[in-house]
Amino acid sequence: MTSPAPRRLQGRVGVVTGAGRGLGRDVAHALAAEGMGLLLLSRTSSELRSLADELAAYDVPLLPAAVDVTDASAIDRVVAHAEQQLGPIDLLVNNAGRIETTERPFWEADREELWAVVETNLRGPMLLCHALLPAMVLRGRGHVVNVTSRARAATRTGTYTGYAVSKRALSVLTEALAAPLAGTGVVVVDLLPGLVRTPMTAGMAVWQDVPDDGWTPASVSTAVVVDVALGRYDDRAGELLDAPELARG
Ligand SMILES: NC(=O)c1ccc[n+]([C@@H]2O[C@H](COP(=O)([O-])OP(=O)(O)OC[C@H]3O[C@@H](n4cnc5c(N)ncnc54)[C@H](OP(=O)(O)O)[C@@H]3O)[C@@H](O)[C@H]2O)c1
Repeated sequence: MTSPAPRRLQGRVGVVTGAGRGLGRDVAHALAAEGMGLLLLSRTSSELRSLADELAAYDVPLLPAAVDVTDASAIDRVVAHAEQQLGPIDLLVNNAGRIETTERPFWEADREELWAVVETNLRGPMLLCHALLPAMVLRGRGHVVNVTSRARAATRTGTYTGYAVSKRALSVLTEALAAPLAGTGVVVVDLLPGLVRTPMTAGMAVWQDVPDDGWTPASVSTAVVVDVALGRYDDRAGELLDAPELARG
């Protein structure tokens, strides 16, 4: 009888934002399957509960918490609680994201929604980095994955301006953190997932006619996240990891 493969992230702890559905849910599965304990964040409690039920099969410590990533004091509280309950956090996956619900040019778009998109996609990752980096730097170890986008939907339609602005800014955050973090043992990278079929993309008019083979499997991105956590891309701090390109080799 062959013994099961060793779990490569056993005993380590990660945070996945936007874990309730879409890509974040797949990332949570992939990390838990490797033995990682997880703080799971998004706003919809029912999705977090059903995810935690699924992940129970991996027998890893879990902390699902319904938190808005733009809420600074809620982030501080949940991070402190997670460090107490789960232990030091090794990995942050800034995956939670939002896009405009209609394809309208900037000047016709709802300005409150535009700003809410920017807040979710930029303030959220900034708050989480701000909360988690001090302990990572102190321990001399940690990984951050910022899930970004080339915002092709925005270029193609001339819309989704808040999304395009926020994702470009998120990449600037990654680049800006790389130099001050050099030599600390903490590595921040960007991840480009390709075009993944999720509740987000399913709701976008621009992607309605994409053929079945036009989508990128989520597994392409989850493999990169696991590899980042394992240190495989430590020499690419501040860079953008294009998951479909890496999968093609
Ligand atoms: N799908 C793609 O093709 C693609 C391509 C490039 C980049 N991306 C990026 O990949 C990430 C995941 O995308 P997806 O397609 O999986 O999106 P999705 O299906 O819409 O899922 C987004 C997740 O983020 C959570 N979220 C949204 N706002 C939040 C907030 N304020 N606080 C906490 N959680 C929040 C959502 O849960 P609640 O609403 O319950 O909070 C949900 O769990 C996003 O950053 C997206 O921009 C996706």
